[in-house]
Amino acid sequence: MYGLTLLSLSLATIMDQVLARPTSCGMGATQNKNGKAIYLITNDNTNAVVSIPIGEDGLLQTTGTSTATAGAGSNSFDGLTNQTAAPDALFSQSSLTIAGNNLFAVNAGCNSLSMFAIDPQDPTKLTMVGKPVAVPGEFPTTVAASAEHQIACVGSTGAKAGVSCASFSAKGLGAMDDLREFDLGQTTPPVGPMNTVSQVAFSNDGKTLFTTVKGDPTKNNTGFLASFHVQACTKTKAVSVSQKAVMSSPAGTAVLFGFSTMKGSNNLFVTDASFGGAVLSFDQGILATVQGKEVVYGQTATCWVAISPATNTAFVTDVGVNRMVEMSLTDASIQGQVDLSANGDPGLIDLRAAGDFVYALSPGNGTTQAAVTVVNAMTKEQVQHFQLQDLGVGKNAQGMALLE
Ligand SMILES: *[C@@H]1O[C@H](CO)[C@@H](O)[C@H](O)[C@H]1NC(C)=O
Ligand SMILES: *[C@@H]1O[C@H](CO)[C@@H](O)[C@H](O)[C@H]1NC(C)=O
Ligand SMILES: *[C@@H]1O[C@H](CO)[C@@H](O)[C@H](O)[C@H]1NC(C)=O
Repeated sequence: MYGLTLLSLSLATIMDQVLARPTSCGMGATQNKNGKAIYLITNDNTNAVVSIPIGEDGLLQTTGTSTATAGAGSNSFDGLTNQTAAPDALFSQSSLTIAGNNLFAVNAGCNSLSMFAIDPQDPTKLTMVGKPVAVPGEFPTTVAASAEHQIACVGSTGAKAGVSCASFSAKGLGAMDDLREFDLGQTTPPVGPMNTVSQVAFSNDGKTLFTTVKGDPTKNNTGFLASFHVQACTKTKAVSVSQKAVMSSPAGTAVLFGFSTMKGSNNLFVTDASFGGAVLSFDQGILATVQGKEVVYGQTATCWVAISPATNTAFVTDVGVNRMVEMSLTDASIQGQVDLSANGDPGLIDLRAAGDFVYALSPGNGTTQAAVTVVNAMTKEQVQHFQLQDLGVGKNAQGMALLE
């Protein structure tokens, strides 16, 4: 646990700095249907998407599959421990995503994006559509896709960092457009977790592509949320994502990590690895400001979030503390926590919620095997601890997507 302790200390130091320099830096509760399946990537050298079906009771079933992406995973370098990063090999949320019946997954080790069709009869049956397309950035770690616009956008965080998009059809992905560059001064693989791209995702109305980028308070390097305008297609013009972003560095945030849109609201719930969680709202629909924020005590790094439709609250996770913390969508105040330490995992990364349940990935650490913990959001209890070794999933695993 040396590395995690160090991470904890470092982030605690950062938090002190942030606090010392605050300027530097819908839903019917009874109508929630269970998901059909969850997906993650092994992110191993021979990268694969692992699919696990969800039963009618909301629990994971043992008939999962593994489908090669025809690409390679990779690992970031952890500058706090001077070791190859794992768990949390990519320092990202959403390394794979779903739009309609298509699934998209990044290959960080070979700078490409793979696209699959999900069989509507059997959500664990994936068929690759076309060939993986080259991404102009290096070390892609996060992907967003819009069924409405038929477009997928990838965030890369290596020596060439930024966001690039490609349209897709039933035949596969088109060519990626020009990289919207971020001047991070990174290497390939990147040295993080600070100063790396965290997540890309579309707004609910499809008009904005958001990207979170972690700052590095030890280098006076401010993190930001980049908002790119999305222009819907017209009779004469294909859909396009603006090359220019509106950049916000909401006061009091520093290491913006995973985030989630909210049903029936334009606000975002964001995690910040340096302190906990925040609700962002948008001034005149553009500049992000903090509507509420809350420190998660005892954290090492709060980095991933999913909003439960059952409770209308955010569940956040930490790679170094095995619990889920439940936070308000109004002001990020802490509503409770689900202590999961009894299952023996070191901590949790990416997660998704559907029906009454929250599904969170622990890649393990090589000693502890990878597992998904399923929590009932209403009763705040673990209802399943599903181990992943038999599906070939180890400590490099990343991401989670859920088919509704
Ligand atoms: C990591 O390496 C750098 C450069 O060699 C060194 O300054 C730092 O103390 C090392 N950190 C740890 C935790 O070993
Ligand atoms: C950090 O950056 C801010 C804003 O650019 C600047 O005002 C401040 O002097 C910088 N501090 C250090 C220690 O470099
Ligand atoms: C892996 O995690 C378990 C549970 O937290 C811990 O007991 C073990 O020491 C960890 N192993 C390594 C290699 O970090």
